[in-house]
Amino acid sequence: MAFFTHHICRGLSSSAVRHVVIKNVTIIGGGQMGAGIAQVAASTGHAVTLVDTNEDILKKAVKGIEGNLKRVVKKKFADKPEAGEEFLQKAMQNVSISTDAGSVVQGTDLVLEAIVENLKVKQDLFGGLDKVAPAHTIFASNTSSLSITDIASSTNRLDRFGGLHFFNPVPVMRLVEVIATSSTSQETFDSLLNFSKMLGKTSVSCKDTPGFIVNRLLLPYILDAVRMYERGDGSKEDIDIAMKLGCGYPMGPFELSDYVGLDTMKFIMDGWSAANPDNPMFAQSEVLNKLVAEGKFGKKTGEGFYKYK
Ligand code: CAA
Repeated sequence: MAFFTHHICRGLSSSAVRHVVIKNVTIIGGGQMGAGIAQVAASTGHAVTLVDTNEDILKKAVKGIEGNLKRVVKKKFADKPEAGEEFLQKAMQNVSISTDAGSVVQGTDLVLEAIVENLKVKQDLFGGLDKVAPAHTIFASNTSSLSITDIASSTNRLDRFGGLHFFNPVPVMRLVEVIATSSTSQETFDSLLNFSKMLGKTSVSCKDTPGFIVNRLLLPYILDAVRMYERGDGSKEDIDIAMKLGCGYPMGPFELSDYVGLDTMKFIMDGWSAANPDNPMFAQSEVLNKLVAEGKFGKKTGEGFYKYK
């Protein structure tokens, strides 16, 4: 890694709680979210190692990051192409890749996971890394719906474990939800808040509750739209237009579902409906189940509620 600075400094807040300055980040998972977080971290001066077990996914992620950064450069440095090129080069130099998380966590301040939404897989990952990562390293999960407390339970660093939940597309969405469990230390929480700020994001915090703030409100809203469509109350096109033009949302609920991924949405809703079988808010949707069963996950598979070229 090009550089590694780990030091404890005083936060600026009046509480003057100490926090770790996160400079060196390991991101596990080279999918849309992992690559998006890597892009933002690298372009804000962090040394990033993006890890995935699949080398092709990593190559695709790096290509995507470069392509997206070029878009940014074109806009931000329209009058200064040389400065733009320098920004691009620096950001790309900050990104390295690896297929072996255990071998790269030695010099890292933060391990952030954005892998499959499966509790056991996440617990196994962190349980293994807990044995090899330095003591000061903070672990965080980008889970959309699982409990941070449950994920952290496979480690012996409950005080250095939290949630950092980003939104898709990460370079554009300005929010990060920062989650502290009942065991997360103030120092860890402040370090995660400070890191989010360094990424240029606005952070909000909430308890380690299902879906945190955004997904807890967003998913029931989307599912209610799907139920309106199932009942024939309105077409999906009209419901999308209504929410865009009536509420100023950038996407209607069906467009957003296809963008987020119907498989992801179903996974989240299945977990909640299993935990709350009597709550109609989390009831199963036939249409959603059918589309997912047919492999129609949305934009990423070429078809979901809508078809994509
Ligand atoms: N990297 C950098 N810039 C990007 C980018 C990327 N990956 N993707 C888009 N952009 C930029 C574009 O360059 C463009 O910038 P300018 O306006 O300055 O030119 C801007 O973002 C808009 O992009 P586009 O013109 O390509 O497309 P658009 O105007 O239709 O916007 C959108 C696309 C930003 C996705 C917009 O439709 C939107 O905000 N949709 C809602 C997304 C949303 O709600 N996300 C949250 C999902 S929930 C979630 O993620 C949580 C979970 O756990 C499930």
